[in-house]
Amino acid sequence: MRRALRGWIVALLGCTACAPQLLAAPAEDQLPPALTHYKGREIAQTMHFEGAPWLTRESRDREEDCVRMLDGLHLKPGQTVCDLGCGNGFYSIRIAQLIGPTGRVLAVDIQPEMLTMLRERAKAAGVTNIKPILGTLVDPKLPPGEVDLILLVDVYHELSHPEQMLQAMRRALKPDGRLVLVEFRLEDPAVPIKLLHKMSKEQILKEVPPNGFKLVEQYDELPWQHVMFFQPDRPLAKTP
Ligand SMILES: C[S@@+](CC[C@H](N)C(=O)[O-])C[C@H]1O[C@@H](n2cnc3c(N)ncnc32)[C@H](O)[C@@H]1O
Repeated sequence: MRRALRGWIVALLGCTACAPQLLAAPAEDQLPPALTHYKGREIAQTMHFEGAPWLTRESRDREEDCVRMLDGLHLKPGQTVCDLGCGNGFYSIRIAQLIGPTGRVLAVDIQPEMLTMLRERAKAAGVTNIKPILGTLVDPKLPPGEVDLILLVDVYHELSHPEQMLQAMRRALKPDGRLVLVEFRLEDPAVPIKLLHKMSKEQILKEVPPNGFKLVEQYDELPWQHVMFFQPDRPLAKTP
């Protein structure tokens, strides 16, 4: 376990001395095989829950300008926001405070340990409008057509089943809902994150629009990440 954690941190930050290990998929017979590559990109391993302290490190606000990223989402009180791949809830708690008691955060992760940490942190912060959801590799278990915004910070490049997840996110969004991807900039060699955990805008545009989304906004003013906003671009086919 400790070796897997060390491998993940080292892999993220750029040293190649430790080989990373993939998180085991849940034993669900119907699950399609996890992809190793998608549209020419190698999919990164899932961040192990023992690496969670990295998500709440003291330097994160300065390194990622998290306040500015949240400002750019233009959240409104009362909204339903999904923090997909929420980890230990670094963003879930801040979003819950921004949208207030009439809003709700659907905080999804595939690792129950991450959700346990999120619950503890939310309790300590006195935040009660977060609903933790244990998703699967193919299904975030979101209510259909109810979500104003789905945020993935440093998550999309880890999805082992990107097509199934994008379809599920489309189903969950309101017709004018937004999907927001925040990824470390592959285009910028000064961003000190290993290549596998970065994504270029060009690659994101190869992957997301063919799955039924259109790019509606983007900005690159954060220190390390680019932010891309998508909306569903055509009605979903009716399910029988
Ligand atoms: C690098 S962490 C980022 C956590 C959080 N977004 C943040 O910025 O603090 C990536 C998280 O995505 C989760 N994850 C990976 N694949 C997922 C999937 N298919 N559905 C939900 N969560 C997933 C991992 O378990 C991990 O907690």
